[in-house]
Amino acid sequence: MKPKISSNKRIKELTDLINKHNRKYYLDDNPEISDYEYDLLVRELLELEKKYPQYKRPDSPTRRIGGEPLKEFKTIKHQFPMLSIDNTYSPEEILDFDKRVIKLLAEKPEYVVEPKVDGIAVSLIYQDGLFFRGVSRGDGWQGDEITANLRTIKSLPLSVPFSFPLEARGEIYFKKEDFRFLNSERKRRGEVLFANPRNAAAGSLKLLDSSLVAQRPLNFFAYTGYFKNGPKEHYRVLQFLKKIGFPVNSHIKLFSGIEEVIEYCQNFQKERNKLPYDIDGMVIKVNSLLDQEKLGRTTKSPRWLIAYKFPAVQATTRLKDIILQVGRTGILTPVALLEPVELAGSTVSRATLHNKDEIQRLDVRIGDKVFIEKGGDIIPKVLKAVKEVRNGKERIFKMPGECPVCGGKLYQDAGEVAVRCENVRCPAQVKERIKHFASRDAMDIEGLGEAMVNLLVEKKLLADYGDLYSLKLKLAELISLERMGEKSSRNLLDAIEKSKGKPLSNFIFALGIRHIGIHSAEILAEKFPSLSEIRTVDLESLSSIPEIGPVMAQSIFNFFRDKEIIFVLEKLRGAGVKTVERPTFVGAPKQRNHSEALDEESIFSEKNIFSEKRIVLTGTLKDFTRNQVTGLIKHLGGRVTSSVSPKTSFVLAGEEPGSKLEKAKTLGIKIINEKEFKSLIHAG
Ligand code: IVH
Repeated sequence: MKPKISSNKRIKELTDLINKHNRKYYLDDNPEISDYEYDLLVRELLELEKKYPQYKRPDSPTRRIGGEPLKEFKTIKHQFPMLSIDNTYSPEEILDFDKRVIKLLAEKPEYVVEPKVDGIAVSLIYQDGLFFRGVSRGDGWQGDEITANLRTIKSLPLSVPFSFPLEARGEIYFKKEDFRFLNSERKRRGEVLFANPRNAAAGSLKLLDSSLVAQRPLNFFAYTGYFKNGPKEHYRVLQFLKKIGFPVNSHIKLFSGIEEVIEYCQNFQKERNKLPYDIDGMVIKVNSLLDQEKLGRTTKSPRWLIAYKFPAVQATTRLKDIILQVGRTGILTPVALLEPVELAGSTVSRATLHNKDEIQRLDVRIGDKVFIEKGGDIIPKVLKAVKEVRNGKERIFKMPGECPVCGGKLYQDAGEVAVRCENVRCPAQVKERIKHFASRDAMDIEGLGEAMVNLLVEKKLLADYGDLYSLKLKLAELISLERMGEKSSRNLLDAIEKSKGKPLSNFIFALGIRHIGIHSAEILAEKFPSLSEIRTVDLESLSSIPEIGPVMAQSIFNFFRDKEIIFVLEKLRGAGVKTVERPTFVGAPKQRNHSEALDEESIFSEKNIFSEKRIVLTGTLKDFTRNQVTGLIKHLGGRVTSSVSPKTSFVLAGEEPGSKLEKAKTLGIKIINEKEFKSLIHAG
């Protein structure tokens, strides 16, 4: 018989095991166990830690979930200043750098060349082998203590097999794809967009609520380490850091001559776009630490390293005007209207200016000649104004005193840069909310796209999404609309009617609660299988749900106590929109014999073949509608989620799959087709 092991021992075992699998997954890209098995380990650990909190270890992977929000960050002085790097833009300047170095050292050094990842520099302190403190670069001398936020980053080791004091420095960054996904989610939630991956990383690290940071897929690369009695060469320091569990960029190379260095830098420029993260150049470092010391530093930067910056994809054009777009939650986003210009293969006539602070920071004026750039995102941005060529006729943009669409009052929440229109009835907001309600991950109402929503709101047939289900009473008016006719009116009404039966999670997402994306909506629907429960639950219970941070909890709580919203919700309920997560199974596998006198629920509840699995659907299936598959998977114990993440168990791909398939491939997630899916459900 197996000896019974103590809970303390098992907690340690699980902690080490999960940390090991984290490394396998996030560092080596080589997982040894399935997401499902991983989730089981985490769950076991969570349960044990709940029972025996005294045994919870400092490097427990469950600490990555984040915790109590802070009021502000503590300021911490760095052990050594975090300096900056001198930039060069040409091979000649690299040769000059090499000459300077040789002159000072009186010999030719070895160089290490590293990609210059465009993120945020941090310092990580380890004591007795445990991650003790993390600090942002700040002004180089002192920064913010952001330990709790950094702890959530999966590729950052919480413990290392090295018990002496150790400081690792490196870059926190966002992958391009994750950044695009984050921004698309933010757009749908009506939040301010990030300008680029670097901005997204900076914004994430500044969040005062680490449970929100935990939801951002941040990454880390170490590029230097300080500890006693270590190797005498930078390259070997990096190798050591890698050995003890830090992620180190795999494109770092050691060279013995400057010609090879230049060649590598120039060649790497072509690889740049293929990398999953943004880099803005290469860093060239003298390898010997003794030589580094000899070379010393200027006030601003060390003399033993230099950055070779890649030219960006930029163009200049004229800024014709700045307009304001009003989003679903009332945010006013300034957009630059440009004289059309070619940039990286497409014609650009608009660029984002993000917010009014950005316009002020850049000091761009209407009429200015401006530099624009396409960064990691597809939306081009205004980089700067060419002030030297101003003729005096340029106009400074002024934020209007009221909403340009409805004349409503504008306001700014404390700590937010976004300016919002206060009027929830603002037609721009109304339109955006209805578009969101009808969108694919929400109620998925076919035919209710941008143009149709605009028309219905302008013709006063809709004042909010609560009016959608009574639109059928206005059939005559609908038919009389331009380009509508009887058939398309009926099709639209049918599509609206059909959406009443969407799963509760889609409905919750459709409501457009600030900070609640489809993922959080799924969590809510799982926890509270009816809307009335969510409407009445107290703030504390909301905050205690894993993955629902305090900001989200507050937002949900406020939403359901807003008079206007209560009114709309009543309309929806009155219209018969499904607000209880009851079984909605529609498509029984064909060979099932219904005379077996089993009701639909019991047929499936016996066989949880998808138990705890997270499944993502993409493309269309031949024999099932989306609703049917979702219903089926739910009945078999699984969960259909909208986006592919490392936690996805598998992707079910039909015909004409979308970008989710690509994402699954890059993440190495199992993909099955309709046939395999069918054999799975029948095999149960
Ligand atoms: S070494 C003296 N190595 O670039 C500074 N920095 O422009 C020592 N960066 O603040 C830093 N990749 O955030 C170093 N491989 C790399 C880097 C790197 C990106 C960033 C870092 C630094 C900034 C300076």
